[in-house]
Parts: sequence; C-alpha cells; structure tokens
Amino acid sequence: MITTRSSTPEDADAVSACVDAVSRERRYLGNTAGFSAEQTRAFIASLADSGGIQIVVVAEARIVGWCDVTPVPFEGMRHVGRLGMGLLPSFRGQGLGRRLVREALSQVFAKTLKRVELEVFASNKIAVGLYEREGFVIEGRKRSARFLDGAEDDILIMGCLRDEWLRSTSQETALNTSLKLKQRC
Ligand SMILES: CC(C)(COP(=O)(O)OP(=O)(O)OC[C@H]1O[C@@H](n2cnc3c(N)ncnc32)[C@H](O)[C@@H]1OP(=O)(O)O)[C@@H](O)C(=O)NCCC(=O)NCCS
Repeated sequence: MITTRSSTPEDADAVSACVDAVSRERRYLGNTAGFSAEQTRAFIASLADSGGIQIVVVAEARIVGWCDVTPVPFEGMRHVGRLGMGLLPSFRGQGLGRRLVREALSQVFAKTLKRVELEVFASNKIAVGLYEREGFVIEGRKRSARFLDGAEDDILIMGCLRDEWLRSTSQETALNTSLKLKQRC
C-alpha cells in the first residue's frame, strides 16, 4: 500500500537517501547530490517553527518521494513558500505527484501562506504540465540557466496564489457536484 504523511526528524536518513537518488539522476533537481542526513534532520525539525511542511510518500515502509514547502524567512515575504518535490523513478506516472501537490497546497494555504513558488527546468515537461494543471502560472524564464552533461536548459519560475487556487478548487468542486447531480437525474 502507498500512503502519504508528514515527515518527522526520525525520517531524516530515508528522506536524505531519496533526495540523493533523484539528485543523482542529474536531470530534474538543481542539486546533483542530496543533503546529509544531519542537514535533513535539521531541515525537518525547522519546518514546525517556520510554518513549512514536508509530506513523504511511503511504500512498504520505505520513503519513495517527498514534497516540501519552505516559507521565505525575510520580512515582507513570509507569506511566500517555495515548493520542491520528487519521486523515485519506479513510483512516477501513477498519480502520486498530483496527490502530493494537492495535499501540500491544501495544507499551506490553510495556514498563513498566500503564495507558493518554484523553479523547474523547462525540459521537465511532466513537472511543468503537472504544476500548470494544479494552478501554477509561468511567471518568468531564466534563459540558459544550466549547462550540464552537454545539455543546455532554461529554468521556469512558476507561482500559485492562494486566492486563485481557492477559486479554481471551489469551481472544480461545484462542477463535480453539478455533474454528479446531473448523472443522478
Ligand atoms: C515530476 C513528478 C513529481 C510528477 O509526479 P508523477 O507522479 O510522475 O506525476 P503524475 O502521475 O501525478 O502525473 C501528472 C501528470 O503528468 C503526466 N505524466 C506522468 N508521467 C508521464 C509520462 N511518463 N509521460 C507523459 N505524461 C506523464 C500524467 O499523465 C499527468 O497528466 P494529466 O494531468 O494530464 O493527467 C515526478 O515525475 C518526478 O518525481 N520527477 C522527477 C523529479 C522532478 O522532476 N521533480 C520536480 C522538480 S521541479
């Protein structure tokens, strides 16, 4: 069975290994190696105080994916969170990414955040498509931002505003309700 839950500092070794594995694919994340277990433990412990979250995907007691939103610490920008996520290769393409983004946005928009932003490589079409369908808008492009392994890539800056997201999710709920009513008639 595959479940999702909030991470705890005890998950640090497993989260660190998962982030490291995706980083070492050298395609999707800015890092080409992960963070140490100690850094990861400190990061997870800091989330409770900062208003951030980290959700992990657990398959047969193993952590196979994560999604975190970290609030920006600067005065005037504390309503903004930065999202990062990834899944181990064999857990992609099964709807887990969508589930993680939805859970993460529901949690942080129910707290104090009013904006969630992220950066994604333009070549990462699956992630860009997922973010767009979940309410993110492309706000900018850093041209020629990465040269790695003989390939050049741009970075897209994407953002999702709480008010717009709430409007779109309430529209979706209203649409689903009216479809169900129509099906019953
Ligand atoms: C990006 C990522 C998190 C998406 O999660 P996922 O579980 O694979 O995606 P989902 O199964 O939820 O699918 C989301 C959408 O992508 C599409 N998709 C997923 N895998 C696909 C594939 N191999 N080819 C084409 N489309 C695909 C799905 O059809 C779905 O589209 P829809 O909205 O039209 O239904 C995941 O693929 C991943 O971990 N990639 C590597 C790390 C990464 O890119 N992190 C993000 C860095 S910004």
